[in-house]
Amino acid sequence: MSSELIEQAASGVGAAAVAPVLLDVDSVEASYGPYRALFGVSFKVFEGSATALLGSNGAGKSTVSRVVSGLVPVTSGRITFGGQDVTGMPAWKIARLGLAHAPEGRSVFGSLTVLENLRLAFRRSLGKDAVAAALDAAFSEFPRLRERQSQLGGTLSGGEQRMLALAKVLAVPPRLLIVDELSLGLAPKIADEVFERLAAIRSRGTSLLVVEQHVGRALELADTVVLLAKGLVSYEGPVSELGDLAHQVLPAGDGRQRGRNGTASDA
Ligand SMILES: Nc1ncnc2c1ncn2[C@@H]1O[C@H](COP(=O)(O)OP(=O)(O)O)[C@@H](O)[C@H]1O
Ligand SMILES: [Mg+2]
Repeated sequence: MSSELIEQAASGVGAAAVAPVLLDVDSVEASYGPYRALFGVSFKVFEGSATALLGSNGAGKSTVSRVVSGLVPVTSGRITFGGQDVTGMPAWKIARLGLAHAPEGRSVFGSLTVLENLRLAFRRSLGKDAVAAALDAAFSEFPRLRERQSQLGGTLSGGEQRMLALAKVLAVPPRLLIVDELSLGLAPKIADEVFERLAAIRSRGTSLLVVEQHVGRALELADTVVLLAKGLVSYEGPVSELGDLAHQVLPAGDGRQRGRNGTASDA
């Protein structure tokens, strides 16, 4: 796959417009103690694109999300965001450059109300003077959270918790939003809603890096795919040229089982 083709696909048009690189991950290695998780990962996210980062369980997807957002240090390689070298930069500084990360798992405080969750997140990311305006914006973006502002985070439905997790990182429209397995464990209809929300966020100018273990919805949203296997990139290119590769290595998931050779392929 030539990089020219990738750029054309990412920009969604012909050769005339080539989108600039927003995120450049170059030969990145990372470890947890003695255990090496990434072995020289390289890929690019283009301005305006939605890139799906796919790979089976344990491939290193969450580690990539964490090194890009500054939560896990790289042991070698380089990460550039918006033209700026962010390798080794603390997470809060990277966030203020416009990189939002909705991490894997529960990022909602169960014993705090919706309102308290949002206040805490906005106070941290924006400072206390900006909290009121950010709350207004979050409640108009997610009306259901306004209705449920006094409810404890832990008693929200799975879908509402994901919306709250998104609202917490979207205070300022970011240049890049990384979402890690946001639809995991959700009923298909609720997962659809979450993905509709991501499409809306993208339409307002935020680029997306969508981390998923299943290929279904992520590929409907994305124009570019990065396939990760055992801490290395095994494919990078337009969704249109992926062919059946993703389906060969990953479950279809999303409640849309895809039988190959007569076998159910969901993990
Ligand atoms: N906090 C951690 N401590 C030690 N090993 C970890 C930690 N997080 C992930 N790993 C290991 O790193 C590898 C990549 O994990 P991860 O990035 O979570 O993969 P994925 O998100 O693709 O499922 C796995 O082998 C996993 O066991
Ligand atoms: Mg993960």
